[in-house]
Amino acid sequence: MIELADIARICGVPEAEVVRVARAVKAAYGKIEGAMAKVFTLDFTEATALVTALCGTGANPLRLLELGTQFGVSTCLLMDSLKALGIRPLITTYDVDVQRHLFKEGEADFRQEDITARCGAVLDELKPHAVFLDAHPWRLTYNMTLEIRRRRILFFMHDVADTLWNENLQGGRLPIEGNECNPNAPWERKVLEVVFGPGIHSGHLDAGDYRIDLVRSHLGLAIGRPTPAAPPAS
Ligand SMILES: C[S@@+](CC[C@H](N)C(=O)[O-])C[C@H]1O[C@@H](n2cnc3c(N)ncnc32)[C@H](O)[C@@H]1O
Repeated sequence: MIELADIARICGVPEAEVVRVARAVKAAYGKIEGAMAKVFTLDFTEATALVTALCGTGANPLRLLELGTQFGVSTCLLMDSLKALGIRPLITTYDVDVQRHLFKEGEADFRQEDITARCGAVLDELKPHAVFLDAHPWRLTYNMTLEIRRRRILFFMHDVADTLWNENLQGGRLPIEGNECNPNAPWERKVLEVVFGPGIHSGHLDAGDYRIDLVRSHLGLAIGRPTPAAPPAS
C-alpha cells in the first residue's frame, strides 16, 4: 500500500504538501462519485500523486493534455482538484469516441480525433506542462511517449500495475497488430520499457534525461519527470 510519504518522495516535496493536495483531491471526488461506478478512473492515491506533481511544476494557468477522455471523469477530477488549489486548469482532452461528458462545455477543450500520427504536432501546438496518457492503443502510447521524451515534458501513464503486466508482451512481438485495443493486454508498461529501458519494472528508473517512478496502486500510475537539463559545455 502506497503511503503519502511515498508520494512525497517520488514528487520531491514535503509530506505537508501531499496532505494539502490530498484534501483538495478528496473534495473533488464528491462530484464524480456517481460516475465512478461505471469507470476505471484514477483512484485517490493516483490522483493525489498526479496533482502533487502538477503543483510541483509551479505553472498557473496549467496546460494539461489528456489522452482518453471517456466520460470525462478523470478530466473533472483533475480540473476540480487544481481549481481548489488555486491553479487554473487548461485541459485539452482527446478521444476517438464522443460520450456524455461529466464536464460542461467550455470547462475543458474536448477534441474527437485519433492523433496517433501527429503526436509531435499536437504537443507543439498545445505546449502542455504535462501529459496524462490513459488511452490504450500501442501506437498512440508509443508515439506520444517518444515525442514527450524529445520535448522533455512531465508525463503520467495510467494502467502500469504489476497485475496488469502481461508476460506475453515480453516476447518482442510489437505491436501485436489488430489487437491494439485488447483491454486484457495493456501496453503501457511495455511502452515505458521500450522507450526508457528495462529498469522500469523495479518501480524506479533513472534514464538520465528522465526519472520514472511507478506509483504501485491498484491500476498503477507512472510518473515521468524530466531531469534538469545539463548546462551546455563551455
Ligand atoms: C481508460 S478510458 C479513459 C478513462 C478516463 N481517462 C477516466 O479516467 O475517466 C480509455 C479511453 O481511450 C479512448 N481511446 C481509444 N483509442 C483512442 C485513441 N486512438 N485516441 C484517443 N482516445 C482513444 C477510448 O475510447 C476510451 O474512452
